Amino acid sequence: MIQNVSVIGLGKLGGSMAAGLASRGLNVIGVDVNRHAVDAVNAGRAPVQETGLGEMIAANRERLRATLSTEEAVLGSDLSFVIVPTPSDERGAFTLQYAKFAFKALGQALRKKSGYHVIVLTSTVLPGATRHGLLPILEQESGKKCGPDFGLCYNPEFIALGSVIRDFLNPDFYLLGEFDRRSGDLLEEVHHRVSQNNAPVKRMSLENAELAKIAVNSYVTMKISFANMLADFCEHLPGGDVDVVSDALGMDKRIGRKYLTGGFGFGGPCFPRDNVALNFMGKQLGVDSSLLKTNDDYNRGLSKRYVEKLQPHLPKGANVAVLGLAYKPLSHVIDESPGIYLCRALSEAGYRVIGHDNLAASNAEVALKLTALVTDSLEEALKDADVVLVATTDKSYTSLTADLLLRGRPAITVIDFWRCLKHLSSDPRVCYVPVGLSRDAEAELAGLKSLWTD
Ligand SMILES: NC(=O)c1ccc[n+]([C@@H]2O[C@H](COP(=O)([O-])OP(=O)(O)OC[C@H]3O[C@@H](n4cnc5c(N)ncnc54)[C@H](O)[C@@H]3O)[C@@H](O)[C@H]2O)c1
Repeated sequence: MIQNVSVIGLGKLGGSMAAGLASRGLNVIGVDVNRHAVDAVNAGRAPVQETGLGEMIAANRERLRATLSTEEAVLGSDLSFVIVPTPSDERGAFTLQYAKFAFKALGQALRKKSGYHVIVLTSTVLPGATRHGLLPILEQESGKKCGPDFGLCYNPEFIALGSVIRDFLNPDFYLLGEFDRRSGDLLEEVHHRVSQNNAPVKRMSLENAELAKIAVNSYVTMKISFANMLADFCEHLPGGDVDVVSDALGMDKRIGRKYLTGGFGFGGPCFPRDNVALNFMGKQLGVDSSLLKTNDDYNRGLSKRYVEKLQPHLPKGANVAVLGLAYKPLSHVIDESPGIYLCRALSEAGYRVIGHDNLAASNAEVALKLTALVTDSLEEALKDADVVLVATTDKSYTSLTADLLLRGRPAITVIDFWRCLKHLSSDPRVCYVPVGLSRDAEAELAGLKSLWTD
C-alpha cells in the first residue's frame, strides 16, 4: 500500500491536493520551484489563497513538508502527482513548457531511484501529450523503461476554485488514464484512501482520459451557453421566465439542472481555454469541432450584445456601475471574467464605467487600466451611478435595497443578470431590468402574435 506521495507544483490545485492527501493520512512531500510556496508549506501556511487551505496545512504538518528538490521528493515517495501550469499558447493549445521541465527533473530523479515509482500527470493537457510529449522525456532522462521500471498515469481533477479541497476529496468520480495496469492499480488504491465519498474510479487509456477531462469542461460550457440562449428567448415571450424553463429542463434526468441558470457567460481560468484548446485539437485531427467554436464565439460576444440590447436602459453618457468583476462570487480571479468584458464593452460604447468587486478589485484595476475606474468600496461605486449592472450573485449585491442604491437620488436603473434583486421590482423609484424575464409583455405579445396571424 502506498503511504508516501509527492506533489510537484504547489499552486491553486497542487497546494490543496497536497493538503488533502495529508489530511487523509498519507505522508506528502510538496515540491515547487517557487521558494515562497515551499517556505509557506513548511511554516504551516497556505502557499495560495484557497478556502480552508491554511487550516488544513496547519492541522497536518506532521505529514506534510515541502522542498525545492524533485529528487528528494521522488526518493522519499512512491508516487508523484504533477500539477504545474499548462497555459494556453498562441494557437489556443496548452503549452507543455512547464510540464517538460518538471518531467526532466522527475526523469533525472528516477535515474537515481532503485524501486518502482508512479508519475501521475494532473495538469490539463490535450490528447497524446502524456504519452508522446512527456513520457519520452522520462525515459530519456532516467535511462529506464515505462512499464517495467516506472509507472505513468494521467489523472486530472474536476475542482472549482474556492472549493478545491472539498471537490478533491468528494468528486463525482476519479478519472484515471493509465499507461498500464500496474500504474493504474496503485493510483486507484490511493484514491480509494483519499476519497471521503467513496467516489468511483473510471479507468481507461491515457488518451481517452485526456479527451474526457477536456470534454467535461467543454460540455458544461455548452449547457451554460444554452441556458443563456434560453434567457434571450424568454425575453421575447410574454410572461417568459428562464428559471421556470430551466427548472423544467433540469427535471429531465438526461439533462439535469446544474449549470443551466441563464444569465451571464462563463469565464475563469479553465472553461474558456479548454473549449478553445479542444477546438484546436479538432482542427488538427480533421474533426469538425465547429460546435465548440460557435459556443466560444457566442460566449465571447455576450457582453457586447447585452450592451446593444440594453440600449433603451442605458442613456447616452450615463455613469454605469458594474458590480462583480471576478468570474464568480467570492473569488479574486478575473481571468476571462464576464464582468471585465462588460466593463470594456460599456466603455467602448462611450459610458463612464466604475467597476466594483470585494475581492478582485486590485486584479481588475490592472486589467481595466484606461477603461474603467475600479473600487472595492460599494458606496463609492454606487455614488454617482445612473445605471447599476449586477454581474455576479455576491451577497453584498443581492442584499442591496432601493435606499442603498439610490442614496437620496430620485431614480436608478438596475440591470440584473441573475434575477437576484427581484425585491426591487415593486419600488417605483427603481427601473428594474431582469435579464431572462419578460419585460414588456405588450410588445412581446405583438411580436409573437404576428408570427401566427400575419
Ligand atoms: N486552478 C484550477 O481551477 C484548475 C482546475 C483543473 C485543472 N487545473 C490544471 O492544473 C494545472 C495547474 O493549475 P494551477 O491553477 O494549480 O496553477 P498555478 O499556477 O496556481 O500553480 C502551479 C504551480 O506549479 C509550480 N511550478 C511550475 N513549474 C514547476 C516545476 N517544474 N516544478 C515544481 N513546481 C513548478 C509553480 O511555481 C506554481 O506554484 C494546470 O494544468 C491547470 O490547467 C487547474
